[in-house]
Amino acid sequence: MEKLVVTGPTSLKGDVLIGGAKNAAVAILPATLLIDGECTIENLPNISDIKISCEILEKLGAKITWIDKNTIKIDTRHITTTKAPLDLTSKFRASYYIIGAMLSRMGEIEVGMPGGCKLGARPIDQHIKGFELLGAEVTVEKGTIYAKSKELVGCPVYMDIVSVGATINVMLSAVLAKGTTIIDNAAKEPHIVDVANFLNTMGADIRGAGTDVIKINGVEKLHGNATYSVVPDQIEAGTFMLAAVATQGNVTLKNCITKHLESITAKIIEIGGNVEDNGDSIRVWCDKRPRKANIKTLPYPGFPTDLQPQMGIVLSLADGTSIINESIWESRFQYTEELNKMGAKITAQGKTAVFEGVENLYGAPVYSSDLRAGAALVIAGTVAHGTTEIFNLEHIDRGYENIEEKFRKIGANIQRIKE
Ligand code: EPZ
Repeated sequence: MEKLVVTGPTSLKGDVLIGGAKNAAVAILPATLLIDGECTIENLPNISDIKISCEILEKLGAKITWIDKNTIKIDTRHITTTKAPLDLTSKFRASYYIIGAMLSRMGEIEVGMPGGCKLGARPIDQHIKGFELLGAEVTVEKGTIYAKSKELVGCPVYMDIVSVGATINVMLSAVLAKGTTIIDNAAKEPHIVDVANFLNTMGADIRGAGTDVIKINGVEKLHGNATYSVVPDQIEAGTFMLAAVATQGNVTLKNCITKHLESITAKIIEIGGNVEDNGDSIRVWCDKRPRKANIKTLPYPGFPTDLQPQMGIVLSLADGTSIINESIWESRFQYTEELNKMGAKITAQGKTAVFEGVENLYGAPVYSSDLRAGAALVIAGTVAHGTTEIFNLEHIDRGYENIEEKFRKIGANIQRIKE
């Protein structure tokens, strides 16, 4: 078992290089199944979700060569099975993208019900609705999803709710379909645009990604033979922006798209922090206790649910009482119990949490309940007085490459210890 041991308080200062976006990369890898050829993907985050994605693709017959720790060459010319390994696919959420991609490529797929962070109910009805509208038959039995289709035919797909996963998955199933698919009420996250850009680079005809109407004109084949670099991770960047504010530090994030960070920038300024936008880098600093604020998480371009716990650390230390309303996931306040062990005063009920700001947090043993909760606890440990031990690191390792090294580089006293 491994744990992170953080001793604080530290004011974080220096530069952090932001990596490729996990939630774009976990969709782009299955999207390579649409290509009858070879391509190179750069700026992949070196995290466990990517390693599992690669393992699943290899089990399906793809050949993967690691060029360096963030670049792979992938050859999807010889797909040898339509049964995805159940043990691996049920380990993480994004395995659902195998369904859209394999329906397109092979017309058939058997895959385990996706796993991932326990954030409450995580249905995939909108994915299934989209596949069925395009002509697939989908059944779910004993934790396994079976999907098949003789021919996928483009059609209008109206999403009942705004869903990142369903938007991308329907896009994957429509790229090689006959005719035109129009996804209405589509999600607009930067990773959706990135997956569309990747597919278009390989020969797809997708327009409107990044708006709520995406039009996909089916094409006969994708050509491959190209190199694509994954978009910088908006959530990793936001995590370090909020770490700078919580620790009253001064941190510059290199390799980010500042346009993707506007909702976070606006909140940081509202609570008294400072942000300097330099186009492909952003400097965040704060020299006083942050002010209270109210937050409601929303689909992009609203404040992201994936930064809610990190913002929660900032508000637990703010001057005054703040309220966070989590509108995407039912159970994303589990971190507040851990934070209360460190001296925070938070009352969470259902999708609302009230943060009565305290002046200091104190080190304690804490457990990471999910990926972003884990990152938030690293920030809490950095700002807290004394030593914090963080357990359940497998969540953090799913989504952050070398989190302790990046925090250490900007001054945190943090070690990973094997027990
Ligand atoms: C993606 O999950 C991200 N995961 C999540 O990131 C992120 O929290 C979430 O989008 C929201 O931004 C990946 O990209 C792999 P949704 P996804 O479909 O696609 C409901 C992280 O920490 N819904 O946009 O699974 C659903 O229950 C993670 O990196 C349905 O009802 O989320 C939720 O309330 C965790 N039916 C809302 O929609 C469906 O068919 C949004 O979910 C699909 C979703």
